[in-house]
Amino acid sequence: MVRPYRAEDRPLLDAFYDAFQPKRAAQGLPPEGPQRVARWLEGVLAGGDHLIVEVEGKLVGHAMLMPTGKQGVREYAIFLDESVRGRGMGTQVNRLSAELARTLDLDRLWLSVEPHNRAAVRSYQKAGYRFRPATMYSPEFEMELELAPGAAEAS
Ligand SMILES: CC(C)(COP(=O)(O)OP(=O)(O)OC[C@H]1O[C@@H](n2cnc3c(N)ncnc32)[C@H](O)[C@@H]1OP(=O)(O)O)[C@@H](O)C(=O)NCCC(=O)NCCS
Repeated sequence: MVRPYRAEDRPLLDAFYDAFQPKRAAQGLPPEGPQRVARWLEGVLAGGDHLIVEVEGKLVGHAMLMPTGKQGVREYAIFLDESVRGRGMGTQVNRLSAELARTLDLDRLWLSVEPHNRAAVRSYQKAGYRFRPATMYSPEFEMELELAPGAAEAS
């Protein structure tokens, strides 16, 4: 189940990131240690829209659409528990997040991802994200999803 984040989820979200493996899996995130996790979440949850992924009542994932300095553009990120990775769930949640973004009348989702993170890159591609070509030879790819009606369909 995917549903909006609620304030009462906070202790479970802290515990989720505290137990997250491998530590600092993506661009140094989530941070290591409960205090760093709490401080990071404080900032992350201060704005934007957040989705919680549950399997049989257990919190197993978090997707976030965070504000950027640009009107209509949000930064997207997703973290799933190790136990549920590699079964198509990330792709599904990416697609649902894009649907949410459309209901929020956003123009675009943007993200950066390390090229070696094949599952992440592929799950974003399958949800319709495209590479920003200028970043293809950078240490981090940037990808974007145009949300306007008629924008490129996912492959
Ligand atoms: C990135 C993440 C959200 C992807 O979700 P997922 O449920 O594991 O991915 P999916 O099962 O939807 O798979 C998407 C694609 O990646 C492929 N894939 C999955 N795991 C893979 C792996 N370990 N190596 C290579 N490809 C992989 C799948 O085969 C699928 O492609 P295909 O349909 O062409 O076969 C999830 O793995 C995760 O939370 N990872 C740790 C945190 C992270 O890196 N977040 C991203 C921050 S930028």
